[in-house]
Amino acid sequence: MSTPQKELRAWTTRDSTELYQLAAWGGEGYSINERGELVVQPMGKDGPKFSLPELVEDLRNRGIELPMLLRVSDVLQLRVAALAGAFRRSVEECGYKGRYRPVFPVKVNQQRDVVEELVDFGKDYSLGLEAGSKPELLIVLAHMTNADGLVICNGYKDVSFIETAMLAQKMGLYTIVVVDRYEELETILTVSKRFDLRPHIGVRAKLASRGAGKWQESGGEKSKFGLTAGELVRVVERLREADMLDCLELLHFHIGSQITAIRAIKDALKEATRIYAELHDLGAGLRFIDVGGGLAVDYDGSSTNFHSSANYSLQEYANDVVFAVQQACDEKGIAHPDIVSESGRALTAHHAILVFDVLDVSTQTVEIPEGADKHEDGTIANMVQILRELSLKNFQESYHDALHLKEEAISLFNLGYLDLKGRAMAETLFWAICDKIRLIVNTLEYVPEELTGLERALADTYYCNFSVFQSAPDHWAVKQLFPTMPIHRLNERPTRRAILADLTCDSDGKVDKFIDLRDVKNVLEVHPITPGKPYYMAMFLVGAYQEILGDLHNLFGDTNAIHISMDEQYGYRIERVIEGDSVTEVLSYVQYDKQDLIRRMRTHLEAAVRAGRINMKESALLMRRYEEALAAYTYLADDDLDEGVDGGDAPAAAAAKVASQAEPSA
Ligand SMILES: Cc1ncc(COP(=O)(O)O)c(C=O)c1O
Repeated sequence: MSTPQKELRAWTTRDSTELYQLAAWGGEGYSINERGELVVQPMGKDGPKFSLPELVEDLRNRGIELPMLLRVSDVLQLRVAALAGAFRRSVEECGYKGRYRPVFPVKVNQQRDVVEELVDFGKDYSLGLEAGSKPELLIVLAHMTNADGLVICNGYKDVSFIETAMLAQKMGLYTIVVVDRYEELETILTVSKRFDLRPHIGVRAKLASRGAGKWQESGGEKSKFGLTAGELVRVVERLREADMLDCLELLHFHIGSQITAIRAIKDALKEATRIYAELHDLGAGLRFIDVGGGLAVDYDGSSTNFHSSANYSLQEYANDVVFAVQQACDEKGIAHPDIVSESGRALTAHHAILVFDVLDVSTQTVEIPEGADKHEDGTIANMVQILRELSLKNFQESYHDALHLKEEAISLFNLGYLDLKGRAMAETLFWAICDKIRLIVNTLEYVPEELTGLERALADTYYCNFSVFQSAPDHWAVKQLFPTMPIHRLNERPTRRAILADLTCDSDGKVDKFIDLRDVKNVLEVHPITPGKPYYMAMFLVGAYQEILGDLHNLFGDTNAIHISMDEQYGYRIERVIEGDSVTEVLSYVQYDKQDLIRRMRTHLEAAVRAGRINMKESALLMRRYEEALAAYTYLADDDLDEGVDGGDAPAAAAAKVASQAEPSA
């Protein structure tokens, strides 16, 4: 029973802006044009802009298929400037004497273009790089070209990791090897003696303070990394003994990613700055404090301490960090250190957008089945009556009755008293009753608990051309929310409610939690799809962690990735297209060889042709399809039905070729 007035009012793009909370999570970076298309405008409404569906059409016309990951490099540049700018303001306002040194932890997005662009955009801010493993170290050493850019080495390290990092110091890089486990210190000392160098050493402190949010286990006394207070003291003593206390230059801590509450950050800062001052008093040559990552992204735009949000701004974060360090140092009369942060998510999440299309829709039928009112079965007659008499006064009782009658219908079916058509009719009537109850419930302030799931149960399923496991693994793994919405038809009322199912054969392969200002929505408002016309949707803020955490579930590979930069005249410039994985590539990851697969297929086909199970033309067509599929994208293509074997495009010559190339079975 939705309010008739609202139904009458025409839907506007402003309604869509509000519904999908564009400004809340996207700031000024997105708008909707008069054609109802989502517009990307990273520099705000006066900067260059382009229509996202138009770009998608343009790319499709060039043969680039969906799903596609768009990377807007200007957004990366803006994020670097925003982070460095926030710290610069805090430093200036507080009269802080040290510098701010941003360091990008490459684990968050190791894609070469992303790392190269960040290094380039960060050169005015001396942006450095952080490596958490040997492969990452190799990237970092080769790509760190910024004057004054730090190279921070975290994570568990073996001898060759430490040797490589320390020798790179001789190459001219400012590599800081952070002791994450006490045992690493001895290797550092041995290597420095062997190469006759005085290393830049850091220590990671294991704080008692914990983060807040999904990744809070990274902090606290039981955290995997870092040194306890006792171990920190031992490090100092050991370094003093080796006459290398001046080499202990950096104190690092990291209490987890996506810290949603500023309180947790303040607590950690308090503890870490105390440790900094104490280590300084013990004689360590400290000159950097590294506050790690954790700067959160407000994915749902609610500005709260909800797990997909943050109850603080970038500026507040910078102010708190600078102020806490300053206060602790001033109290002890210590020189202000340079402040390092390893913010990864906050730098990269915003720049990537995953665009996909809807392939099919399944809806729950709620139409009253024809002939229901004349059906002779008593259960069905009772359901028809419930439907007829359903009202605001009796909806909850009707729900209970309908549930009971549906179960009764199934029992009758199992006992042979109701036929399949009758059962289908009872089930449809049940959903018709639920749909009517849903409309009533939507008008209520208070919704009875048992009815809260109706919207979800009655939602459509939109089958989408992407894999959650490959492109948004955190949604599957930790229920991380990403803003998701249609990118066109935004001047039309979205009359359907849907969950999004991906291509994988996995019941977890779906998106059924969506951002909502108050809580989390179980369904997303979408438009009915028009047969023969594409329906484009996009998931935003997927630039941090998702690509590299993505896996090959069902062998859906990397998506096509397109690098865009903003252009004053044309809106966008396509800088680079990185083709997604082909089927051959993903098969090779699991040790299948293309030639071997083809050879095996030919052998099977030859045998089938000889046995008369398949004719030559069909055999040739199957082989052609097989080879095409090996070369193709792993996602679904929008191709037409082939004319088939009789359509004349499977020439006898091809069939002959298949037969002649087939190798005899071994
Ligand atoms: C040591 C370290 N530094 C930095 C980061 C990046 O954190 P974030 O992406 O929250 O900025 C991480 C990730 O968890 C980390 O483990």
